[in-house]
Amino acid sequence: MAEHPAYPVGLRLSGRRVVVLGGGQVAQRRLPALIAAGADIVLVSPEATPSVEAMADAGEITWVRRGYADGDLAEAWYALIATSDPAANTAASAEAERHRVWCVRSDDADQATAWTPATGHSEGVTVAVLTTHARGRDPRHTAAIRDAVVEGLRDGTLVAPHHRTRTPGVALVGGGPGDPDLITVRGRRLLAEADVVIADRLGPRDLLAELPPHVEVIDAAKIPYGRYMAQEAINNALVEHAKQGKAVVRLKGGDPYVFGRGMEEVQALAEAGIPCTVVPGISSSISVPGAAGIPVTHRGVAHEFTVVSGHVAPDDERSLVDWASLARLTGTLVVLMGVDKIGKIAETLVAHGRSPATPVALVQEGTTAAQRRVDATLATVAETVRAEDVRPPAVIVIGEVVRVGPAPVA
Ligand SMILES: C[S@@+](CC[C@H](N)C(=O)[O-])C[C@H]1O[C@@H](n2cnc3c(N)ncnc32)[C@H](O)[C@@H]1O
Repeated sequence: MAEHPAYPVGLRLSGRRVVVLGGGQVAQRRLPALIAAGADIVLVSPEATPSVEAMADAGEITWVRRGYADGDLAEAWYALIATSDPAANTAASAEAERHRVWCVRSDDADQATAWTPATGHSEGVTVAVLTTHARGRDPRHTAAIRDAVVEGLRDGTLVAPHHRTRTPGVALVGGGPGDPDLITVRGRRLLAEADVVIADRLGPRDLLAELPPHVEVIDAAKIPYGRYMAQEAINNALVEHAKQGKAVVRLKGGDPYVFGRGMEEVQALAEAGIPCTVVPGISSSISVPGAAGIPVTHRGVAHEFTVVSGHVAPDDERSLVDWASLARLTGTLVVLMGVDKIGKIAETLVAHGRSPATPVALVQEGTTAAQRRVDATLATVAETVRAEDVRPPAVIVIGEVVRVGPAPVA
């Protein structure tokens, strides 16, 4: 049997009986895909791992709490034999053969009539990798090939030569804080499919260098806006390029909806009747403190964190922030766009009751090669920013969480 190559096939198991013998790690790994395939799963096993038990509790599988008995496979279309008892596995294999039920065996691939491929999914396609012969089986190698293919399809380094279904219109992609590895898988795939990318100054600019030469990259800061406001000019550029039938990606720093004016762009596109997809991103408000060793919450220290824009000073009539209330909170304050106004902000917080000794950390250009952390207190931060020449972009963290991590490595 093992001398011929396996014949690959996709089983459509919806509503069909699949019998799983043994409720250990193998079953735990295989059951989710069988459940996803809609199979009518009967698990026969005296014991099960807590995860398998949870699947039974949730009604996703039927659990018969005993060992294998002859006849268990009579109604099955497919069987997974994975008990810890070799004699039971052999008997079940023989029964599967008698009933012509394809069966996988976790203990002896040679005796199995079916093999489970290493599988992964991308863009509506299942990638399944099988070794040709039982003797050459090397599960790590097949898993590595699967990973390479799926990863390549996801990040666009492997481009399937057939016509790809592209997301029409504009994709507003949150690019994360700056490290190119911190964009989402979906964001990266959309970027790989783009004809035009309109990018902000902040965000993963290194990713732009990877784009093929035919992709038009537009720096949002350099879009001429004449009689328009800059944001309006960006909205117009998005609409114009999309109207030409191009796949447009608007690449933004962090998350599009955190001080990113993302909704203004969504609204402009909706008004122009252009489809728009929004892809969330990792916001600098949480990830940049984290990259510098600061958790925004910590058990027993901070039960809340508040993200505030510091782009206008507390006494500016345009400010929508209630700084007096923020001063009374005991948790973490994360200030974005606040480097220029930090002196006034610190003064206001202290005036409304926060201790001048409250620790403050400024993290400049977080997650990039230029990342830098400068520590101060509310009393000293204004002077520290001047002395250390801290510049935007920086995330400012105010609160006791600044001190909970190990000392920063110089
Ligand atoms: C216009 S806001 C955009 C925030 C973005 N949408 C997000 O979710 O991270 C820009 C501010 O985010 C912060 N910021 C973004 N990326 C940063 C980074 N890599 N390091 C430090 N601060 C960053 C700075 O406070 C900067 O002034």
